[in-house]
Amino acid sequence: MHPLVQRAAHAITLLAFVATASVHAHETLKLEAPKPLIAPTPPMGWNSWNKFACNVSEQLIRQQADAMAASGMKDAGYQYIVIDDCWQNSRDAEGNIVADPERFPSGIKALADYVHSKGLKFGLYSDAGALTCGGRPGSAGREFQDARQYAKWGVDYLKYDWCHTGPRNAEAAYTIMAKALRESGRDIVLSICEWGNNQPERWAQPVGHLWRTTGDIYDAWEGQKDWSHGMTNILDMQVERAAHAGPNGWNDPDMLEVGNGGMTTTEYESHFSLWAMLAAPLIAGNDLSKMDADTLRILTNKDVIAVDQDPLGKQGRRALKEGDLEVWVRPLQGGEYAAVLLNRGKTPADMKLGWDRLGLPASQKATVKDLWSKKVTKNVSGSYGGTVAPHGVIMVRITPVP
Ligand code: GLA
Repeated sequence: MHPLVQRAAHAITLLAFVATASVHAHETLKLEAPKPLIAPTPPMGWNSWNKFACNVSEQLIRQQADAMAASGMKDAGYQYIVIDDCWQNSRDAEGNIVADPERFPSGIKALADYVHSKGLKFGLYSDAGALTCGGRPGSAGREFQDARQYAKWGVDYLKYDWCHTGPRNAEAAYTIMAKALRESGRDIVLSICEWGNNQPERWAQPVGHLWRTTGDIYDAWEGQKDWSHGMTNILDMQVERAAHAGPNGWNDPDMLEVGNGGMTTTEYESHFSLWAMLAAPLIAGNDLSKMDADTLRILTNKDVIAVDQDPLGKQGRRALKEGDLEVWVRPLQGGEYAAVLLNRGKTPADMKLGWDRLGLPASQKATVKDLWSKKVTKNVSGSYGGTVAPHGVIMVRITPVP
């Protein structure tokens, strides 16, 4: 090609690129339908990834749905059964997404129907790139086709990941999927999973119902492996984010590891307590069909769940940090408070919550309920405390006496 012709061709390509980019920029502004109000409190459910990774099948999903319904998890408020990556394996001649026929021989519709028959809701996973993180087909360029398919199958929840997205703009990409879901004819929760990389606090609230704030969690009290983090590392990354969450749009510090075996029972109680303080989605990540008594007791602690699900929807914040000792507080509806005294150290610690941390006068009398021991103390004023086990918490609900 003559260099001049080549340059002209290049200019045309550039123009085309600018035109496409502006269409995309424009598209990000056009979410005519409002976000459906389907997550007034943080979503609760189960997801396959933390325990089973790519090892998913219809048999596994049915078994988890059975266990959620029979174990007491459903009664405690858990409702979504979400298949994470690797359920999909190709597209058909019309470009429709196809489930792995060996692992899901009855098809996704039959599986969604089964989950619904248990009184539960059904979720799937896709990705804004050409491929998912596990290398399966993603939804880039197929958003509307996929959303229509999900609606036909009876999908209630979509976790939408961010691998293989190249230079895509995250706000534009998630807005397109939000629009596709809203035009699908079915109310579908949109779980944004771009790991907090593109300042979701700036744009995610009108787009999705929850958005990840970090890389992946792994089942350890603390630590860091590539882009995965131990539980307390994830906790530290939530400190600046409380202001951006609220009813129908939640910060997501990633799924629960309770029951997966990498932490002690005390550490799992802390993990669950802290996620409740963060108003985090409570998405169990263990094998629900093989829970020991402690795992079930932790995951179904109704007092802790009530803090997570408090209708005011105000995320808790770290009110004090002195070395290994932290105080987390969260205002609840009706003038009540939740608080966690967290001991990240290796020896027991005597800790206290002063009423000043709650903005209450020291003379204010309150009823204090310990949400793990269930002990109720009346007419407490000034402060409340006790000895906190290593890697443990005291979690309380404080009801000021009028
Ligand atoms: C990413 C997500 C995880 C999980 C995997 C699946 O790492 O952050 O939560 O969905 O992809 O491949």
